[in-house]
Amino acid sequence: MTLTTEKTVREIAIENPATVRVFESLGIDYCCGGRRPLSEACERANVPVTQVLELIAKTQPDSQPSGKDEWADATLASLIEHIVTRHHGFVRQEVSRLEPLLAKVGNKHGDTRPELRSIQELFSALSQELMAHMFKEEQVLFPYIQKLEAASRGGSQLPGACFGSVEMPIARMLAEHDDAGELLAQIRTLAGDFQPPEDACPSFRGLYHGLQEFERDLHRHIHLENNILFPRAVELERA
Ligand SMILES: [Fe+2]
Ligand SMILES: [Fe+2]
Repeated sequence: MTLTTEKTVREIAIENPATVRVFESLGIDYCCGGRRPLSEACERANVPVTQVLELIAKTQPDSQPSGKDEWADATLASLIEHIVTRHHGFVRQEVSRLEPLLAKVGNKHGDTRPELRSIQELFSALSQELMAHMFKEEQVLFPYIQKLEAASRGGSQLPGACFGSVEMPIARMLAEHDDAGELLAQIRTLAGDFQPPEDACPSFRGLYHGLQEFERDLHRHIHLENNILFPRAVELERA
């Protein structure tokens, strides 16, 4: 991989998925803000670009022979199936686990740790947004992309859609991803980068660990949609 600071974070993450670890550890947005050049993304995250380049140079070669993201060239139908099964499934499973855990920890420690109540409110808003968002993807956008791919493979006419171009619902989904990314960032700040206090009980620790895993998974999920699935669907429609 030839790395220049003009390359976008998205391009770097797709070419070498091992770099995602570097981006995560330094708070560099590679999903919602993946279209920014590396230099600009570093500036926003307040990290010297030279440090990022050094860390990227040290990343281990990926298990993929090409080094590329394993989903970069997959069929869109299989990528969609992966997103729905793995990532939408994870969101649903973790929301039903973390909401009661947040309530429990908030009730117990909310008086001395008022940030827990704010985190609970933000997480509840995030969950509601995500449920509605995933429903739209699963019921409208993803089936349309699957039909688009099938039509292009079969050389048949593009499917008709009430929304006109696929770019319309995609623009909406991108905006919702930005909102979700913003809520996640607020949760991370309130939770002090998910570092529990020294004297935290096991539930408190489990909660912060769960929230951090939730964030990591959502970043990967949004990366697959923003940086691989959606651009390829737009390309397919244009072609
Ligand atoms: Fe999704
Ligand atoms: Fe999405």
